[in-house]
Amino acid sequence: MKIITLLAQKGGTGKTTLSIHLAVIAAAASKKTVIADIDPQQSAMFWRKRRQLEDPQVIGMTASNLNQTIFDLKNKNTDLLVIDTAPHSESDSIIAANAADIILIPSRPAILDLEAIGASVNIVKKAETKGVIVLNGCPFPGWFGETAIVTEARDALTVYGLPVAPVSLANRVAFSHSLIDGRAVTEFDQKGKAASEMEGLYRWINEEYMLW
Ligand SMILES: Nc1ncnc2c1ncn2[C@@H]1O[C@H](COP(=O)(O)OP(=O)(O)OP(=O)(O)O)[C@@H](O)[C@H]1O
Ligand SMILES: [Mg+2]
Repeated sequence: MKIITLLAQKGGTGKTTLSIHLAVIAAAASKKTVIADIDPQQSAMFWRKRRQLEDPQVIGMTASNLNQTIFDLKNKNTDLLVIDTAPHSESDSIIAANAADIILIPSRPAILDLEAIGASVNIVKKAETKGVIVLNGCPFPGWFGETAIVTEARDALTVYGLPVAPVSLANRVAFSHSLIDGRAVTEFDQKGKAASEMEGLYRWINEEYMLW
């Protein structure tokens, strides 16, 4: 079983959005996928309640139950566990980081967000786990590729010494709209740009970190 943890000490950077979407794409690729929602806000749990389809399963729990859940899911031949964490929750985030094979840190490309990444990067480094920053909520790319603000964000992020995913996600209403009735962008508008970006991110993670 592979474990991907979504971690950002800053709120609203896209942890739950990415957790849900990566899990839906993995489940659609016939991978037995579970989301562990350790955020007391339970956003992923609420999404699950609105969802008609059976997969992926979402389990709400506290961080202290995570290791037992991981043990149980391994015994049930789960392929992928995605852990959605809460902001401002250092001790819980450390538990989720230690359990992970890969940690994704979503961040908006704006300066205040980029500067706030340090706390999350420290958790990744202490966990000695592979970590990658994912730029989310970016301005739409133009004809000639990503905008200057995204390129500048990549440059600014080099100080942290963690890779930045080459695939970034634009600020697209589909990412929030699709969640209203418990879907994901790949189900809401399969051929849309949001779906193509999220599938591109999943593909890149899969290839780079050899999920399967
Ligand atoms: N790429 C995007 N385009 C448009 N809206 C987005 C995008 N990513 C996230 N959002 C929206 O931004 C808000 C915050 O996203 P999300 O809940 O995924 O962040 P979070 O990091 O899980 O927040 P929290 O720290 O509170 O758990 C939500 O309303 C979500 O729908
Ligand atoms: Mg969240």
